[in-house]
Amino acid sequence: IGRKRITLDEVDSTNEYAKRIAGDVPEGTVVVAKKQTAGRGRKGRSWASPEGGLWMSVILKPPRVDPRLVFVGALAVIDTLADFGIESGIKWPNDVWAGGRKISGILTEGKAGEYSILGIGLNVNNTIPEELRENAVSMVQFTGRELPLDAVLERLLFHLGGWYRVFLERPDLLMVKVRERAFILGKVVTVTEGDEEISGIALDILDDGSLLLSIDGQLRRILYGDVSLRFF
Ligand code: BTN
Repeated sequence: IGRKRITLDEVDSTNEYAKRIAGDVPEGTVVVAKKQTAGRGRKGRSWASPEGGLWMSVILKPPRVDPRLVFVGALAVIDTLADFGIESGIKWPNDVWAGGRKISGILTEGKAGEYSILGIGLNVNNTIPEELRENAVSMVQFTGRELPLDAVLERLLFHLGGWYRVFLERPDLLMVKVRERAFILGKVVTVTEGDEEISGIALDILDDGSLLLSIDGQLRRILYGDVSLRFF
């Protein structure tokens, strides 16, 4: 991953750019931008992407579009953060949290039979806007000094390569690691799915990426989709 790289000063969204070129480039091609003018998050939300953060997308061509791909990104981000001395965990379905706040978000998109895009946003040196500071954090707040973005990218690409192999060859082992890193397991969580709020104990993350909840002793599977999650 990252043998071919496209580095841009500015782009609408690296995911959008990656989709536009996916048919013409080899698997593993990486698109990185210094800033995005229309960075996107899940559920159609926008994603603040000023200079100083790492905004990138990887073009992959796995045998099928697989919801577990998001965990390749999450585990690679966790390992990258650990390389810089920052402890973090997976907040299902697609965030990485450190010190109780969001440090990274992952957005996967795919077209069956053609490509999967793994988009990763990682707050590195960028300042978090005032109104988000309670919920979001950057690496620099942990390290106390600015980090070289290219070094962070190198570590991330290295770990992405490793976890992508595990995903292709032993997806069961990928999920073992995911469960280990998912700090919500065993906790009471509230999931918002459309208009519905569901609270229960998070028991497991299943092989299709869904969350298994115990609600008053009844089991319920929450699909990885348009959900948001709070925990206590
Ligand atoms: C989320 O938390 O909702 C996911 C955020 C994903 C942000 C990254 S930044 C690089 C890539 N390009 C985008 O437009 N989004 C992803």
